[in-house]
Amino acid sequence: MRLTILITVLLITLYNVKGDHLVLGNIGVRTSLAHEKIVTYNPFPFLKRVKTYFYSDPRNRPIVGIQVIDMLHSKASVNITAGGLGQPFVNLRMKSERGSGLNYSIGIYVNPDYQ
Ligand SMILES: *[C@@H]1O[C@H](CO)[C@@H](O)[C@H](O)[C@H]1NC(C)=O
Ligand SMILES: *[C@@H]1O[C@H](CO)[C@@H](O)[C@H](O)[C@H]1NC(C)=O
Repeated sequence: MRLTILITVLLITLYNVKGDHLVLGNIGVRTSLAHEKIVTYNPFPFLKRVKTYFYSDPRNRPIVGIQVIDMLHSKASVNITAGGLGQPFVNLRMKSERGSGLNYSIGIYVNPDYQ
Protein backbone atom coordinates (compact mmCIF):
# COMPACT_ATOMS: atom_id res chain seq x y z
CA MET A 1 0.00 0.00 0.00
CA ARG A 2 2.66 2.49 1.07
CA LEU A 3 4.83 1.28 -1.75
CA THR A 4 2.03 1.95 -4.24
CA ILE A 5 1.70 5.52 -2.96
CA LEU A 6 5.44 5.98 -3.19
CA ILE A 7 5.54 4.69 -6.75
CA THR A 8 2.60 6.91 -7.72
CA VAL A 9 4.32 9.98 -6.27
CA LEU A 10 7.51 9.03 -8.09
CA LEU A 11 5.68 8.59 -11.39
CA ILE A 12 3.92 11.95 -11.01
CA THR A 13 7.27 13.59 -10.26
CA LEU A 14 8.85 11.97 -13.30
CA TYR A 15 5.93 13.00 -15.43
CA ASN A 16 6.20 16.61 -14.27
CA VAL A 17 9.92 16.70 -14.89
CA LYS A 18 9.28 15.29 -18.35
CA GLY A 19 6.74 18.05 -18.99
CA ASP A 20 9.29 20.77 -18.35
CA HIS A 21 12.47 19.36 -19.71
CA LEU A 22 13.92 17.01 -22.21
CA VAL A 23 17.14 15.21 -21.37
CA LEU A 24 18.28 12.44 -23.68
CA GLY A 25 21.43 10.38 -24.00
CA ASN A 26 24.70 11.29 -22.39
CA ILE A 27 25.23 14.87 -21.29
CA GLY A 28 27.86 14.10 -18.64
CA VAL A 29 31.16 12.30 -18.69
CA ARG A 30 33.22 12.15 -21.86
CA THR A 31 31.00 14.41 -23.86
CA SER A 32 31.52 17.93 -24.98
CA LEU A 33 29.01 20.69 -25.40
CA ALA A 34 28.92 21.33 -29.13
CA HIS A 35 26.30 24.02 -29.03
CA GLU A 36 24.34 26.03 -26.50
CA LYS A 37 21.41 28.28 -27.23
CA ILE A 38 18.71 30.15 -25.36
CA VAL A 39 15.46 30.23 -27.28
CA THR A 40 12.87 32.76 -26.18
CA TYR A 41 9.52 33.89 -27.49
CA ASN A 42 7.40 36.71 -26.09
CA PRO A 43 4.05 35.85 -24.57
CA PHE A 44 0.92 36.68 -26.47
CA PRO A 45 -2.46 36.86 -24.68
CA PHE A 46 -4.60 33.69 -24.94
CA LEU A 47 -2.26 32.02 -27.42
CA LYS A 48 0.15 29.14 -27.26
CA ARG A 49 3.41 30.09 -28.85
CA VAL A 50 5.16 27.51 -30.99
CA LYS A 51 8.75 27.78 -32.03
CA THR A 52 11.03 25.33 -33.78
CA TYR A 53 14.77 25.20 -33.46
CA PHE A 54 17.06 23.35 -35.84
CA TYR A 55 20.65 22.38 -35.09
CA SER A 56 22.94 20.79 -37.63
CA ASP A 57 26.49 20.01 -36.60
CA PRO A 58 28.96 21.85 -38.85
CA ARG A 59 31.41 18.93 -38.60
CA ASN A 60 28.71 16.31 -39.08
CA ARG A 61 29.35 14.75 -35.67
CA PRO A 62 26.58 12.48 -34.34
CA ILE A 63 24.72 13.90 -31.34
CA VAL A 64 25.23 11.86 -28.14
CA GLY A 65 23.20 14.01 -25.73
CA ILE A 66 20.45 16.61 -25.79
CA GLN A 67 19.33 18.79 -22.90
CA VAL A 68 16.41 21.16 -23.24
CA ILE A 69 15.44 23.00 -20.05
CA ASP A 70 12.35 25.12 -19.58
CA MET A 71 13.69 28.12 -17.65
CA LEU A 72 10.16 29.30 -16.89
CA HIS A 73 9.22 25.94 -15.28
CA SER A 74 5.91 26.33 -17.04
CA LYS A 75 3.58 23.85 -18.71
CA ALA A 76 5.44 24.31 -21.96
CA SER A 77 6.36 21.18 -23.89
CA VAL A 78 9.15 20.21 -26.20
CA ASN A 79 9.44 17.41 -28.75
CA ILE A 80 11.98 16.21 -31.24
CA THR A 81 10.45 16.23 -34.71
CA ALA A 82 13.50 15.15 -36.73
CA GLY A 83 16.99 13.80 -36.12
CA GLY A 84 18.21 13.35 -32.55
CA LEU A 85 20.60 10.94 -30.88
CA GLY A 86 23.02 9.30 -33.32
CA GLN A 87 22.23 11.87 -36.00
CA PRO A 88 24.26 14.98 -36.82
CA PHE A 89 21.14 17.16 -36.59
CA VAL A 90 18.04 17.67 -34.50
CA ASN A 91 14.84 19.63 -34.93
CA LEU A 92 13.07 20.69 -31.74
CA ARG A 93 9.51 21.91 -31.45
CA MET A 94 8.62 23.97 -28.39
CA LYS A 95 5.15 24.99 -27.36
CA SER A 96 4.29 27.40 -24.55
CA GLU A 97 1.45 27.36 -22.10
CA ARG A 98 -1.52 29.42 -23.26
CA GLY A 99 -0.77 33.12 -22.72
CA SER A 100 2.87 32.46 -21.76
CA GLY A 101 6.13 33.00 -23.52
CA LEU A 102 8.96 30.56 -24.03
CA ASN A 103 12.39 30.50 -22.47
CA TYR A 104 14.29 27.30 -23.22
CA SER A 105 17.95 26.56 -22.74
CA ILE A 106 19.22 24.08 -25.31
CA GLY A 107 22.45 22.10 -25.06
CA ILE A 108 23.71 19.71 -27.76
CA TYR A 109 26.47 17.25 -26.80
CA VAL A 110 28.86 15.27 -28.99
CA ASN A 111 31.72 12.84 -28.47
CA PRO A 112 34.89 14.91 -28.02
CA ASP A 113 37.03 12.23 -29.73
CA TYR A 114 34.96 12.10 -32.87
CA GLN A 115 37.16 12.66 -35.94
C1 LIG B 1 4.73 16.86 -27.98
O1 LIG B 1 4.07 15.62 -28.10
C2 LIG B 1 3.02 15.45 -27.13
C3 LIG B 1 2.48 14.06 -27.29
O2 LIG B 1 2.23 13.77 -28.66
C4 LIG B 1 1.96 16.53 -27.36
O3 LIG B 1 0.95 16.40 -26.39
C5 LIG B 1 2.61 17.90 -27.23
O4 LIG B 1 1.66 18.91 -27.52
C6 LIG B 1 3.78 18.01 -28.19
N1 LIG B 1 4.46 19.28 -27.98
C7 LIG B 1 4.99 19.99 -28.98
C8 LIG B 1 5.73 21.20 -28.59
O5 LIG B 1 4.89 19.67 -30.14
C1 LIG C 1 15.22 33.35 -19.55
O1 LIG C 1 15.47 32.75 -18.28
C2 LIG C 1 16.73 33.11 -17.72
C3 LIG C 1 16.90 32.31 -16.43
O2 LIG C 1 15.78 32.47 -15.59
C4 LIG C 1 16.77 34.62 -17.50
O3 LIG C 1 18.02 34.98 -16.98
C5 LIG C 1 16.54 35.34 -18.82
O4 LIG C 1 16.49 36.74 -18.62
C6 LIG C 1 15.24 34.86 -19.46
N1 LIG C 1 15.11 35.48 -20.78
C7 LIG C 1 13.98 36.02 -21.20
C8 LIG C 1 14.01 36.64 -22.56
O5 LIG C 1 12.96 36.00 -20.53
